[in-house]
Amino acid sequence: MIAVRSLSPQEARARRAELADLLVDSVQSGGAVNFVWPMTQAKADAWWDGALASHDAGERLILAAESGGQMVGTVQLVLAPQENQRFRADVAKMLVLSSARRQGIGAALLTAVEEEARRIGRTLLTLDTRTGESGERLYARMGWQRFGEVADYAINPDGKGLHGATFFFKKL
Ligand SMILES: CC(C)(COP(=O)(O)OP(=O)(O)OC[C@H]1O[C@@H](n2cnc3c(N)ncnc32)[C@H](O)[C@@H]1OP(=O)(O)O)[C@@H](O)C(=O)NCCC(=O)NCCS
Repeated sequence: MIAVRSLSPQEARARRAELADLLVDSVQSGGAVNFVWPMTQAKADAWWDGALASHDAGERLILAAESGGQMVGTVQLVLAPQENQRFRADVAKMLVLSSARRQGIGAALLTAVEEEARRIGRTLLTLDTRTGESGERLYARMGWQRFGEVADYAINPDGKGLHGATFFFKKL
């Protein structure tokens, strides 16, 4: 049984090790989430320190998917800071434990983050993902509108060659 919920800043900080483990696991298993091998605990910890500080400051939400008390996935809603975009947010760092994929956890995280966005009045969501990946199919299936693709957008996690990014938006 999978449950997804929004973590308070205190809860997220208390579970920093599990959040960092999810990031390390995703990058090591080939996920294109802004890191290049070798992925280290130190890189994951440093990234999460920044994200947790931003969470404390009310700039983002952090959601967790749990199964039997274990964190098996996470996703974030990063609130647009611009005064004229108070209704927009980015969906970011959607990570599902590599051993728990293809069971609907990604879809459950996306449904939950959309509900949270609606609840706080962020009704225009944007995101980007590696072209041709599982994430791209997931967003399209869940009603997101693809609005473009940029070739050679980022370095592959293994450091070899470049991959494209596909951009999506959804109006809630
Ligand atoms: C992208 C990601 C979050 C998807 O998570 P997930 O939990 O595997 O997502 P889902 O299970 O909802 O869907 C994935 C696939 O499993 C399938 N699936 C879902 N439930 C299933 C079930 N019970 N039985 C069989 N297949 C199932 C879905 O149809 C989907 O198939 P597709 O990829 O062929 O379209 C995950 O692959 C991941 O963490 N990747 C690394 C990081 C990354 O790239 N994040 C996205 C950056 S924006």
